[in-house]
Amino acid sequence: MPILKPLRRLDQLLSSCGYCSRSEARLWVRGGRVLVGGQRAEAVEQKARAADVVVDGEPLDSPEGILVLLHKPAGYVCSHDTKEGPRVFDLLPPRWLERNPPVTTVGRLDKDATGALVITDRGDLVHQWTSPKRHVTKLYEVTVARDLDASLVKLFAAGTLVLEDEHKPCLPAKLEIIAAREARLELTEGKYHQVKRMFGSQGWTVTRLHRSRFGEFELGDLPVGQWRRIF
Ligand code: URA
Repeated sequence: MPILKPLRRLDQLLSSCGYCSRSEARLWVRGGRVLVGGQRAEAVEQKARAADVVVDGEPLDSPEGILVLLHKPAGYVCSHDTKEGPRVFDLLPPRWLERNPPVTTVGRLDKDATGALVITDRGDLVHQWTSPKRHVTKLYEVTVARDLDASLVKLFAAGTLVLEDEHKPCLPAKLEIIAAREARLELTEGKYHQVKRMFGSQGWTVTRLHRSRFGEFELGDLPVGQWRRIF
């Protein structure tokens, strides 16, 4: 049986999808910018299904929510604060930050790190994928400043490494050394700066950090700075 989507007030639909505030919605409707089922909307109180609403000639933008995978470039921050430098959100349609709730990142990558970053406006998904109980797998490609030592493989796998200012040891992590100064590291948790701190604790400085996979979401050939929808 098809699931019938709920009827929602037009001002609520427009503001939750980031077009304007609920009070501004009145002007949008009066200005004839909003159609419902092909007919000019009459009032903001009018209820409609999102799929029937057209704004400025376009269907309503992602009424079911946003979930995208971004290939984060170096130099961008995962913060909403513009003072910290260019934001990953600046690479997305500007309207998405005006949504209610706005888009946010699922976990973070450091400013100098690159790679797979999931972005959503769905708080339930953020919670689900960042919860320590879930053990979402993340795969990192790491370059370090001096030759690696095979002893790190055993150490990281042991689940005994306690980082500075932490009480609990890191969960067992899979390290694969692929060149003298390059490795892949698979983590199932996300402590603050975890990769850099794990290597740093043993005297290796990370000079390049790239995440190629977050959970089930693989970057593949997604170009740097580009995003694709997950739904
Ligand atoms: N570990 C780090 O050190 N930095 C990141 O951005 C992600 C994991």
